[in-house]
Amino acid sequence: MITFKRVGHLNIGVMKLIKISITLGVFIFLSFSCMQSTRENMPKKQFAIAIHGGAGVISKNLPDSVRKNYEKGLQEALDLGKNLLEKGSPALDVVEQVIHVLENNPLFNAGKGAVFTAKGEHELDAAIMNGKTLATGAVAGVKTVKNPISLARKVMTETPHVLLMGAGAEEFADSQDITRVPNSYFDTENRRKQLERAQQKSAEILKSDTYGTVGCVVLDKDGNLAAGTSTGGMTNKKFGRVGDAPIIGAGTYANNETCAISATGTGEEFIRHTVTARISALFEYKNYSIEKASDYVIHKVLQPGDGGVICVDKFGNIAMPFNSAGMFRGAADSEGLFEVKIWE
Ligand code: GLY
Repeated sequence: MITFKRVGHLNIGVMKLIKISITLGVFIFLSFSCMQSTRENMPKKQFAIAIHGGAGVISKNLPDSVRKNYEKGLQEALDLGKNLLEKGSPALDVVEQVIHVLENNPLFNAGKGAVFTAKGEHELDAAIMNGKTLATGAVAGVKTVKNPISLARKVMTETPHVLLMGAGAEEFADSQDITRVPNSYFDTENRRKQLERAQQKSAEILKSDTYGTVGCVVLDKDGNLAAGTSTGGMTNKKFGRVGDAPIIGAGTYANNETCAISATGTGEEFIRHTVTARISALFEYKNYSIEKASDYVIHKVLQPGDGGVICVDKFGNIAMPFNSAGMFRGAADSEGLFEVKIWE
C-alpha cells in the first residue's frame, strides 16, 4: 500500500511536469512561429540598391574638392542603378553595370585605379552572385581585363566553374566578348605614390592606402537579389595574394531566401570569418534583422579597422555597417531614399 501511494504521488508529480513542459513547448513554438510570420509578412520594397567604394582610414580633413569627386562618383553609379531598377532591369544586370561605372572611375581601387602589387603591376579580383539560383562566378589575379566583374559573370554563365584565376581566366576571356587592355591601363599617379609610400616604410601593407574596393547589392522588382564585388586588392601585395572579393561567403554573397552582401576591408579577416555567409546565416537561422546580423559581425566578430559591408535583405531593407573611420557608400530604394555618405 505504502509503496503504491508513493508511486501515485510520483505519478501526479510527473504528470504535472509533463503538462508544464507541453505548455511551455507550445508557447515557445507559437512565439517563434509568430516571429517568423511577422517577418515574412513585412511589407516589401519594390526595389533597393546599395553600393560601396571602399572602407578605411578616410580623413575627415579630406579636401572639399576630393570629397566632392568621391561623392560625384558614387552618385553617378547609384543614379544609374536606381534608374535601371525603376525600369525593371534584372538585379544581375544592375550589379554588373553599376560596378562598371565604379571600375572605370580612377578614384576607386577596382579596374582603372587599382592598386599596385609589390612588382609594380595590377592583379584584379571580382565576383558576382545570383540570389535566385545561387549561381556565381569569380576571377582572381587577372591583369588585362578592363572590367573584371563582366568576366566573373561570364564564368558564372558560360562555364561549369565558379572561380578562374590568372592566365587561365584571361585565356577564357579571349573566348568571350570581354575587353582586354595592357596592364599599364590601370596605372594612376595616386596609386603609384601609395606603392612608394608602402615600400619606403617597408610595411607589408599600408592600411590607409589599401581600400577602395567597389561593390553593389540589389533587390529588383521581381524580388531577386544579386551581389557583386570588384577590387585591385591591397597595395604592395605579393606572391599572387588573393583577397575576399572573389571568395563566395567571404566578400560576396547573395541568396533570395536571405540577403545580398558585398564587403570591403582587410580581405584576410573577411575570409577567416566567412563574413558575408555568416551575416546571411544569422538572418536565416537566428531570425536576426539585416541590421542586427550585419552589426553583430562587423562589430563583434571583426576587429575595429577591418572594414564594412553593404547589405540588402529580401524585403529591401538596407544595412551598411563599418568599423573603420569611414566607408564610401550609397543607398537608394523605391520609397525615395537616395543618399551617399562617407563617414557617419
Ligand atoms: N577587400 C579587398 C581585399 O582585401 O582584397
